[in-house]
This record gives sequence, structure tokens and C-alpha cells, in this order.
Amino acid sequence: MEKAKINELEVDLFLEAIFKRWGYDFRDYARASLNRRVLQRLSITGLKRISEMIPLVMHDQGFFENFLTDMSVTVTEMFRDPWVFKKIRETVIPKLRTYSRINIWHAGCATGAEAYSMAILLREEGLLDRCHIYATDYNNNSLSLAKKGIFPINLIKSCANNYIEAGGKSLFSDYYRAGYDSACVAKALRDRITFANHNLMNDGVFAEMNLVMCRNVMIYFDRNLQNRSLKLFSNSLAPRGFLVLGTQESLSYSDCKHEYESFEPKERIYRRLAHV
Ligand SMILES: C[S@@+](CC[C@H](N)C(=O)[O-])C[C@H]1O[C@@H](n2cnc3c(N)ncnc32)[C@H](O)[C@@H]1O
Repeated sequence: MEKAKINELEVDLFLEAIFKRWGYDFRDYARASLNRRVLQRLSITGLKRISEMIPLVMHDQGFFENFLTDMSVTVTEMFRDPWVFKKIRETVIPKLRTYSRINIWHAGCATGAEAYSMAILLREEGLLDRCHIYATDYNNNSLSLAKKGIFPINLIKSCANNYIEAGGKSLFSDYYRAGYDSACVAKALRDRITFANHNLMNDGVFAEMNLVMCRNVMIYFDRNLQNRSLKLFSNSLAPRGFLVLGTQESLSYSDCKHEYESFEPKERIYRRLAHV
């Protein structure tokens, strides 16, 4: 058996062990990037074979948690892809304005920048008091940073342009308190967001949403898990609710594409049909 095939088999067994021991099912993650991360972890351990990591991942919680961190790419920023936020402001907000209560879900929120950006936008549009934002991730380290609302000052300052391009109506610096090397997001924004652990691999619906945003998360999933996640979003969305995906994600090949109309094609904003 050639080496590549042995590696594949060993990765299968490694993932199976993780699933059986910890309940995290990475078997439906896109294989190329997953393999890279497994090999990276192997080189850190100094072991020779992937299968030698199976006892480690089964018996050493710290090792497993390190692997979870390896698998969680947490790159994010405030008002990422500002033209998407601009479009939400211009075309989605007028529709949401007609509701008395608005639920928004950021799935795969990393350290919370996207959820805080949404809170700023909603505040400027006078909707924040009627909104509740749920921001979820399976990475507890990211979630605890997100809850604190503390970001490196350079990172937050570098997003001031994004804010302007997203149609920001005030001064970006009005929304955080700057310290020496970090900045803390305003409490009024933090109070409107519930950060919670939710795993798209196997957790279910937890509230009815009017807007679901899941960007730069499903690129790491294979078609099967992408479909399951999209089905979950469909089941969470109220009729005529909005779904916002990342620039490299789409509904085109999904099982539930017939449940949506394309609302803003360029920005990957979809709207759930009234009767599905
Ligand atoms: C690149 S970040 C995207 C952050 C934000 N949505 C954005 O676009 O800026 C991807 C996030 O997805 C999370 N993630 C990956 N797989 C997940 C899963 N199965 N369930 C929940 N979150 C997941 C990762 O932990 C990471 O924080």
C-alpha cells in the first residue's frame, strides 16, 4: 500500500477516534485542509505516524483541545467585506424594520467581530433595542474573547476604513474604549449579544431567526456538512428570513436552494421563501 493511502487510512482512524471519544465529527470537513492540519500536529508532536496520535487524542484532553484549536481558523475583522454590510444596511434593514422583534444569528462567530459590527449597524439604524443577536462557535477560547469584547488596538483601528465603506454614520472610535494596546467594545453593544457554544456538526435549532449570517465557515466543510448546516439554517429561519453567506460560499449546489430566492446575488444574500 503506498504511503498516501496509508496516511488516508490513518487520518480516517484518527477522526473516528475523535468522534467516538469526544463527539466531534471532523469526518465531514474538507479533506485537503484537514490533512494539512493533521500533518502539522504530527510534526509538532515529533511522532512518525498519524496513527501514533490516536492514543494521545483519546487519553489526553489537552492534546484533543490543541487539535480543536488547529481546526478552528479564527481570522476575522470588524465589518469584513464592508460592501456586504453596506448592502445589508441598504436593502435588508428596510425589510427587518417592519418586525417588532428581530433575531439574528452569527454562526461561526470566532472572536465576535462580525456580531459587534452588526450591533453597530443596527444601533445606527435605530433597531438595536428590538434585536437580539446570537453569536455561536464551537471554539470556547474564541468565545471567551468574544464575550469580553476586547480586541488588539491595532486590529480595531485597521478596520476604521471598513466601517466607513460599510456606510458607517458616526465615528468608529465612538464604539470602543481604547486602552494602551487593546480596545473594549461599548457595553451597550455587548449587552445585545449572547455568545454561546454551538457546533454545526451536530447541534440543532435554538430559536427562530430573521437573519442568519454564516461566512467563511462552510469553506472548511465537505458538501455533506455544508448541506446539513444549510438545512439547519433553513429550519432556523422564519419565512422571508435572510441568509448571508461568505464570498466563497453559495447555495448553488445545496439541497435547499429551492427554499430561497437570491436577494442580493453579488453579496450572497438569500431570502427564504414564504411557503416551503
Ligand atoms: C474564519 S472564522 C469566520 C469568522 C466570521 N464568520 C467572519 O467571517 O469573519 C471561522 C469560524 O468558524 C468556526 N467553526 C468551524 N467549524 C465549526 C463548527 N462545526 N461549528 C461551529 N463553528 C465552527 C471556527 O471555530 C472559526 O471561529
